[in-house]
Amino acid sequence: MCEAVLDESITGRAKRAGHIDIRYHHIRYYSEDKHRRTDDSPYGGGSGMVMQAEPLAACLDAVLATFDTRPRVIYLSPQGQVLTQKKVVALSKLSGIILVCGHYEGVDQRFLDTYIDEELSIGDYVLTGGEIAAMVVTDAVARLCDGVLRDTSSYTEESHYNGLLEHPHYTRPAIWRGMAVPEVLLNGHHAHIEAWRRQKSLENTYYKRPDLLENAPLTEADHQYLAELRSKDGKESQALGYAEQDLST
Ligand code: ADE
Repeated sequence: MCEAVLDESITGRAKRAGHIDIRYHHIRYYSEDKHRRTDDSPYGGGSGMVMQAEPLAACLDAVLATFDTRPRVIYLSPQGQVLTQKKVVALSKLSGIILVCGHYEGVDQRFLDTYIDEELSIGDYVLTGGEIAAMVVTDAVARLCDGVLRDTSSYTEESHYNGLLEHPHYTRPAIWRGMAVPEVLLNGHHAHIEAWRRQKSLENTYYKRPDLLENAPLTEADHQYLAELRSKDGKESQALGYAEQDLST
Protein backbone atom coordinates (compact mmCIF):
# COMPACT_ATOMS: atom_id res chain seq x y z
CA MET A 1 0.00 0.00 0.00
CA CYS A 2 2.74 2.47 0.99
CA GLU A 3 5.05 1.32 -1.78
CA ALA A 4 2.38 1.98 -4.41
CA VAL A 5 2.19 5.61 -3.31
CA LEU A 6 5.71 6.49 -2.17
CA ASP A 7 7.55 4.83 -5.06
CA GLU A 8 5.76 7.25 -7.40
CA SER A 9 6.40 10.89 -8.25
CA ILE A 10 8.85 13.01 -6.23
CA THR A 11 9.46 10.55 -3.38
CA GLY A 12 9.92 7.69 -5.84
CA ARG A 13 12.39 9.67 -7.94
CA ALA A 14 14.30 10.79 -4.83
CA LYS A 15 14.48 7.19 -3.67
CA ARG A 16 15.81 5.94 -7.01
CA ALA A 17 18.35 8.78 -7.11
CA GLY A 18 19.56 7.77 -3.62
CA HIS A 19 18.60 10.99 -1.83
CA ILE A 20 16.35 9.07 0.56
CA ASP A 21 15.93 5.41 1.45
CA ILE A 22 12.42 4.15 2.16
CA ARG A 23 11.83 0.49 3.10
CA TYR A 24 8.55 -1.29 3.77
CA HIS A 25 8.13 -4.23 6.11
CA HIS A 26 5.17 -6.55 6.30
CA ILE A 27 4.48 -7.49 9.93
CA ARG A 28 2.57 -10.61 8.81
CA TYR A 29 5.83 -12.13 7.54
CA TYR A 30 7.12 -12.12 11.11
CA SER A 31 4.20 -14.10 12.52
CA GLU A 32 4.94 -17.61 13.75
CA ASP A 33 1.29 -18.55 13.33
CA LYS A 34 0.58 -20.94 10.47
CA HIS A 35 -2.03 -18.52 9.07
CA ARG A 36 0.34 -15.60 9.62
CA ARG A 37 -2.05 -14.11 12.13
CA THR A 38 -0.87 -10.99 13.91
CA ASP A 39 -3.95 -10.15 15.97
CA ASP A 40 -6.12 -11.66 18.69
CA SER A 41 -9.15 -10.72 20.76
CA PRO A 42 -8.70 -8.25 23.62
CA TYR A 43 -8.24 -9.39 27.21
CA GLY A 44 -11.14 -8.12 29.24
CA GLY A 45 -13.51 -8.45 26.32
CA GLY A 46 -14.85 -5.85 23.98
CA SER A 47 -15.14 -5.48 20.24
CA GLY A 48 -12.37 -5.68 17.68
CA MET A 49 -8.97 -7.26 17.56
CA VAL A 50 -5.64 -6.24 19.04
CA MET A 51 -2.30 -6.58 17.29
CA GLN A 52 -0.05 -8.99 19.15
CA ALA A 53 3.27 -7.84 20.58
CA GLU A 54 5.46 -10.66 19.25
CA PRO A 55 5.10 -10.31 15.46
CA LEU A 56 5.57 -6.54 15.82
CA ALA A 57 8.64 -7.03 18.03
CA ALA A 58 10.14 -9.64 15.68
CA CYS A 59 9.65 -7.33 12.71
CA LEU A 60 11.05 -4.31 14.53
CA ASP A 61 14.07 -6.22 15.87
CA ALA A 62 14.89 -7.40 12.34
CA VAL A 63 14.60 -3.86 10.98
CA LEU A 64 16.57 -2.30 13.87
CA ALA A 65 19.41 -4.76 13.21
CA THR A 66 19.91 -3.19 9.76
CA PHE A 67 20.77 0.23 11.27
CA ASP A 68 24.17 1.26 12.66
CA THR A 69 22.69 3.91 14.94
CA ARG A 70 19.29 3.40 16.49
CA PRO A 71 16.66 5.31 14.51
CA ARG A 72 13.76 7.04 16.23
CA VAL A 73 10.84 4.61 16.53
CA ILE A 74 7.53 6.38 16.03
CA TYR A 75 4.09 4.83 16.39
CA LEU A 76 1.35 6.42 14.28
CA SER A 77 -1.66 6.87 16.52
CA PRO A 78 -4.52 9.28 17.07
CA GLN A 79 -3.19 9.58 20.65
CA GLY A 80 0.10 11.10 19.49
CA GLN A 81 1.30 14.68 19.33
CA VAL A 82 -0.30 16.24 16.24
CA LEU A 83 2.09 16.66 13.29
CA THR A 84 3.07 20.23 12.36
CA GLN A 85 5.54 21.58 9.82
CA LYS A 86 7.86 22.38 12.75
CA LYS A 87 7.81 18.72 13.71
CA VAL A 88 8.37 17.72 10.07
CA VAL A 89 11.48 19.91 9.96
CA ALA A 90 12.80 18.30 13.17
CA LEU A 91 12.17 14.79 11.80
CA SER A 92 13.92 15.65 8.52
CA LYS A 93 17.13 16.25 10.49
CA LEU A 94 17.21 12.73 11.93
CA SER A 95 19.38 10.15 10.19
CA GLY A 96 16.68 7.48 10.35
CA ILE A 97 13.08 6.98 11.39
CA ILE A 98 10.99 3.85 11.79
CA LEU A 99 7.26 4.37 11.47
CA VAL A 100 5.17 1.65 13.08
CA CYS A 101 1.64 1.30 11.74
CA GLY A 102 -1.05 -0.16 13.94
CA HIS A 103 -4.29 -1.59 12.69
CA TYR A 104 -7.60 -2.91 13.91
CA GLU A 105 -8.58 -1.65 17.34
CA GLY A 106 -5.10 -1.26 18.75
CA VAL A 107 -1.71 -2.69 19.56
CA ASP A 108 -0.67 -4.62 22.67
CA GLN A 109 0.48 -1.96 25.13
CA ARG A 110 3.53 -3.99 26.18
CA PHE A 111 4.98 -3.68 22.68
CA LEU A 112 4.44 0.08 22.72
CA ASP A 113 5.98 0.41 26.21
CA THR A 114 9.05 -1.59 25.12
CA TYR A 115 9.86 -0.05 21.75
CA ILE A 116 8.18 3.23 20.99
CA ASP A 117 10.06 6.54 21.41
CA GLU A 118 7.03 8.68 20.57
CA GLU A 119 3.50 8.59 19.20
CA LEU A 120 2.54 10.84 16.31
CA SER A 121 -0.92 11.71 14.99
CA ILE A 122 -1.72 13.42 11.68
CA GLY A 123 -4.87 15.03 13.08
CA ASP A 124 -7.72 14.72 15.51
CA TYR A 125 -9.70 12.06 13.67
CA VAL A 126 -9.39 8.28 13.46
CA LEU A 127 -8.10 6.33 10.45
CA THR A 128 -8.49 2.59 9.91
CA GLY A 129 -4.76 2.12 10.33
CA GLY A 130 -1.43 3.90 10.53
CA GLU A 131 -0.38 3.39 6.89
CA ILE A 132 -1.94 6.52 5.43
CA ALA A 133 -0.56 8.53 8.36
CA ALA A 134 2.89 7.00 7.76
CA MET A 135 2.72 8.02 4.11
CA VAL A 136 1.79 11.56 5.10
CA VAL A 137 4.75 11.77 7.51
CA THR A 138 7.14 10.20 4.97
CA ASP A 139 6.09 12.51 2.15
CA ALA A 140 6.31 15.66 4.29
CA VAL A 141 9.72 14.69 5.72
CA ALA A 142 11.21 13.38 2.46
CA ARG A 143 10.64 16.62 0.57
CA LEU A 144 12.83 18.47 3.12
CA CYS A 145 15.76 16.07 2.72
CA ASP A 146 18.78 17.25 0.72
CA GLY A 147 18.47 16.75 -3.02
CA VAL A 148 14.77 15.82 -3.03
CA LEU A 149 13.44 19.18 -4.23
CA ARG A 150 15.35 21.06 -6.91
CA ASP A 151 14.80 24.46 -5.37
CA THR A 152 14.90 24.75 -1.56
CA SER A 153 13.07 28.10 -1.71
CA SER A 154 10.05 26.01 -2.70
CA TYR A 155 9.76 24.99 0.92
CA THR A 156 11.25 27.97 2.74
CA GLU A 157 8.55 30.16 1.18
CA GLU A 158 5.60 27.82 1.38
CA SER A 159 2.68 27.69 3.78
CA HIS A 160 3.56 26.87 7.41
CA TYR A 161 7.33 27.07 6.95
CA ASN A 162 7.57 30.53 8.52
CA GLY A 163 4.43 30.17 10.61
CA LEU A 164 2.21 31.81 7.98
CA LEU A 165 0.17 30.62 5.01
CA GLU A 166 1.68 31.32 1.63
CA HIS A 167 0.76 34.12 -0.81
CA PRO A 168 -1.32 33.28 -3.92
CA HIS A 169 0.36 32.22 -7.18
CA TYR A 170 -0.35 33.13 -10.80
CA THR A 171 0.97 31.89 -14.13
CA ARG A 172 0.24 32.50 -17.84
CA PRO A 173 -2.01 33.71 -19.36
CA ALA A 174 -1.97 37.25 -17.89
CA ILE A 175 -5.74 37.42 -18.35
CA TRP A 176 -7.88 34.32 -17.79
CA ARG A 177 -11.69 34.52 -18.11
CA GLY A 178 -11.45 38.27 -17.79
CA MET A 179 -9.42 38.08 -14.58
CA ALA A 180 -6.04 39.81 -14.67
CA VAL A 181 -2.90 38.86 -12.77
CA PRO A 182 -2.13 41.50 -10.07
CA GLU A 183 -0.22 44.32 -11.77
CA VAL A 184 2.62 44.30 -9.22
CA LEU A 185 3.70 40.81 -10.36
CA LEU A 186 4.14 41.93 -13.97
CA ASN A 187 6.48 44.90 -13.50
CA GLY A 188 9.56 43.01 -12.27
CA HIS A 189 10.16 45.27 -9.25
CA HIS A 190 11.55 42.72 -6.81
CA ALA A 191 11.11 44.69 -3.56
CA HIS A 192 7.50 45.57 -4.44
CA ILE A 193 6.76 41.95 -5.29
CA GLU A 194 8.24 40.77 -1.98
CA ALA A 195 6.22 43.35 -0.03
CA TRP A 196 3.01 42.36 -1.88
CA ARG A 197 3.66 38.67 -1.22
CA ARG A 198 4.24 39.29 2.48
CA GLN A 199 0.98 41.21 2.71
CA LYS A 200 -0.95 38.51 0.85
CA SER A 201 0.61 35.89 3.09
CA LEU A 202 -0.56 37.84 6.16
CA GLU A 203 -3.98 38.28 4.56
CA ASN A 204 -4.38 34.56 3.81
CA THR A 205 -3.36 33.68 7.35
CA TYR A 206 -5.59 36.35 8.89
CA TYR A 207 -8.69 35.18 7.03
CA LYS A 208 -8.12 31.42 6.81
CA ARG A 209 -6.05 30.48 9.88
CA PRO A 210 -6.01 33.40 12.33
CA ASP A 211 -4.86 31.01 15.08
CA LEU A 212 -1.45 30.80 13.39
CA LEU A 213 -0.82 34.52 13.89
CA GLU A 214 -0.40 34.02 17.63
CA ASN A 215 2.92 32.21 17.19
CA ALA A 216 4.16 33.57 13.86
CA PRO A 217 7.28 35.78 13.94
CA LEU A 218 5.95 39.18 12.81
CA THR A 219 7.67 42.47 12.07
CA GLU A 220 6.42 45.93 12.99
CA ALA A 221 5.24 46.37 9.38
CA ASP A 222 3.35 43.06 9.60
CA HIS A 223 1.56 44.21 12.76
CA GLN A 224 0.62 47.47 11.05
CA TYR A 225 -0.77 45.65 8.05
CA LEU A 226 -2.76 43.28 10.28
CA ALA A 227 -4.19 46.30 12.13
CA GLU A 228 -5.36 47.66 8.74
CA LEU A 229 -6.95 44.31 7.94
CA ARG A 230 -8.72 44.24 11.29
CA SER A 231 -10.10 47.73 10.76
CA LYS A 232 -11.74 46.76 7.45
CA ASP A 233 -12.76 43.30 8.66
CA GLY A 234 -16.13 41.87 7.70
CA LYS A 235 -16.33 43.50 4.28
CA GLU A 236 -13.10 41.85 3.18
CA SER A 237 -13.91 38.34 4.39
CA GLN A 238 -17.25 38.54 2.58
CA ALA A 239 -15.45 39.58 -0.61
CA LEU A 240 -13.10 36.61 -0.31
CA GLY A 241 -16.06 34.29 0.00
CA TYR A 242 -15.01 33.07 3.41
CA ALA A 243 -18.07 34.20 5.30
CA GLU A 244 -18.31 32.15 8.42
CA GLN A 245 -19.86 28.76 7.86
CA ASP A 246 -20.62 26.27 10.55
CA LEU A 247 -20.01 22.76 9.22
CA SER A 248 -20.03 21.16 12.63
CA THR A 249 -23.56 19.78 12.45
N1 ADE B 1 -4.04 5.86 13.15
C1 ADE B 1 -5.38 6.00 13.23
N2 ADE B 1 -5.72 7.29 13.25
C2 ADE B 1 -4.56 8.02 13.17
C3 ADE B 1 -4.25 9.40 13.15
N3 ADE B 1 -5.18 10.34 13.21
N4 ADE B 1 -2.95 9.75 13.07
C4 ADE B 1 -1.99 8.82 13.01
N5 ADE B 1 -2.23 7.50 13.03
C5 ADE B 1 -3.50 7.10 13.11
